[in-house]
Amino acid sequence: MKVKKAIIPAAGLGTRFLPATKAMPKEMLPILDKPTIQYIVEEAVEAGIEDIIIVTGKHKRAIEDHFDNQKELEMNLEEKGKSDLLQSVKYSSNLANMFYVRQKEQKGLGHAIWTARQFIGNEPFAVLLGDDIVQADTPAIKQLMNQYETTGKSIIGVQQVNESETHRYGIVDPLDSSEGLFSVNSFVEKPQPGTAPSNLAIMGRYVLTPQIFDYLGRQEIGAGGEIQLTDAIEHLNSNDCVYAYDFEGERYDVGEKLGFVKTTIQFALNDKEMSKDIIDFIKSINFRTLKNK
Ligand code: G1P
Repeated sequence: MKVKKAIIPAAGLGTRFLPATKAMPKEMLPILDKPTIQYIVEEAVEAGIEDIIIVTGKHKRAIEDHFDNQKELEMNLEEKGKSDLLQSVKYSSNLANMFYVRQKEQKGLGHAIWTARQFIGNEPFAVLLGDDIVQADTPAIKQLMNQYETTGKSIIGVQQVNESETHRYGIVDPLDSSEGLFSVNSFVEKPQPGTAPSNLAIMGRYVLTPQIFDYLGRQEIGAGGEIQLTDAIEHLNSNDCVYAYDFEGERYDVGEKLGFVKTTIQFALNDKEMSKDIIDFIKSINFRTLKNK
């Protein structure tokens, strides 16, 4: 069965970006002129996903408005002959069939995915988390969908991280591997520093079979007192096989401030119109006189 639906969880409070996220969803913070969530939706659409459900919460209406029509704005841009801007505004309204469901309580990622179960029904589906933007020739989620098509099993996207960072991620204890596809002994959510079974970290891209909902429905509390998707994947792996796939692609961490600033600089350097000015600006900085160095 083909993967046609995706879940994008976006109900988090965005505490790492407070006070900017007091009244604005963190998913609407822009890298250059595009909100981070649009990069994620574009990845899903490029992979051939047709229906996307975003799991939202309080103070997240701006996300729905962003992917909706803005007729007044469109008319205004048309009258002024600003055709490029008009096109970009229309583009984000017509990317995919967008659906929304609210997670009423903050009970963790596993609970957010479970909230969208009725939309998914009995089909395999994709999950894309918004904290990482991945740039790759073949979209990261498409690479996982390709692996799903040959195996028929759930596929969890992983990449290697430094050992000092393993406690921030879900970590895979791998068994055999063939061309980046690993069978897995166990999946552990945020292991204590120094206890991680490997440095292969779950990187916010998943293709899951609907059986995952049987385990999410148990509402088991895991790491950090939350219902963890990784724990449900671990149960699914004990009863069926779940693979990890080391996908290709450049990963940009936009889930915390330093990563967000680095991503902004990198994207500006990659931008035809901005790149030269940014390079000139960086060259002009007098690093010796910087405060707080
Ligand atoms: C979530 C997952 C974790 C994964 C990470 C990737 O954690 O629970 O397994 O490694 O995303 O970004 P969070 O960063 O939401 O705490």
